[in-house]
Amino acid sequence: MSVPRLREMKRGGERIGMLTAYDYPTARLLDRSGTDVLLVGDSLGMVVLGYSSTVYVTMEDMIHHVRAVVRGTERALVVGDLPFGSYNEGPVQAVRSATRLVKEGGCAAVKLEGGIEMAPAVRAISEAGIPVVGHVGLLPQSSAKVGGFKVQARTAEDVAALLESGRALEKAGAFMLIAEAVPTPVGALLSRSLAVPVVGIGAGPGCDGQVLVTTDMLGIQDELTPRYLKRYAHLSGTIESAVRSYLSEVREGGFPGEEHGYGMEPGEEARLPEV
Ligand code: KIV
Repeated sequence: MSVPRLREMKRGGERIGMLTAYDYPTARLLDRSGTDVLLVGDSLGMVVLGYSSTVYVTMEDMIHHVRAVVRGTERALVVGDLPFGSYNEGPVQAVRSATRLVKEGGCAAVKLEGGIEMAPAVRAISEAGIPVVGHVGLLPQSSAKVGGFKVQARTAEDVAALLESGRALEKAGAFMLIAEAVPTPVGALLSRSLAVPVVGIGAGPGCDGQVLVTTDMLGIQDELTPRYLKRYAHLSGTIESAVRSYLSEVREGGFPGEEHGYGMEPGEEARLPEV
């Protein structure tokens, strides 16, 4: 998978399948299943590291997890998320952080959140030779500013501002955009307005592709169910029942069985000392 191939997919009307990944075994499974783009999102902070917000995620957290995902990936394009505070000071800081994520983490591209105000940072990263993904609509890193995780661009003025941001990010060199939590007609309009692919999360079926947080769609995390989420498995139940079976077999002596143990060389057991 490559940046030109993703553009070609948009031109040919082929939808892009993207998922988040944070570790080596999951990356291997998602990659083997044919996922086009693996995003090491800063959702890492909330779904894997147990932070209460993505704003606490550090560059070191990101680099550590990007490396694991890259090691588990053969085909998909790996995108690393720039964490809060690593690009907000301006283009110089943004290029420095993007370079670290690519050089130390090994990802092929980076993502940052923000609209037209982030165009200078996107331009600088892209001109430094690093493919960059924009992220518009709901911006989890600055969700406190809009009062939480709320649907964005519900008025004509907000839609006009979103389109302006999308065009500015595309012009600045973003090769793809994520559109998060915008009404279905707005996701479709944004996708139609841009030459680069727009991948939606809660942005409706009119986008050029879809992304979901893997722990949500597999039902590993099952406490919150946003409207846009579809669960394709319920792994939390599967894991809990497997662990309960294991614990009761350990406690009752059902595990390990004969077949899980190792024998000695013939005749050697009889020579063991008496204790
Ligand atoms: O951090 C993340 O996982 C994301 C996706 C929700 C797009 O930004």
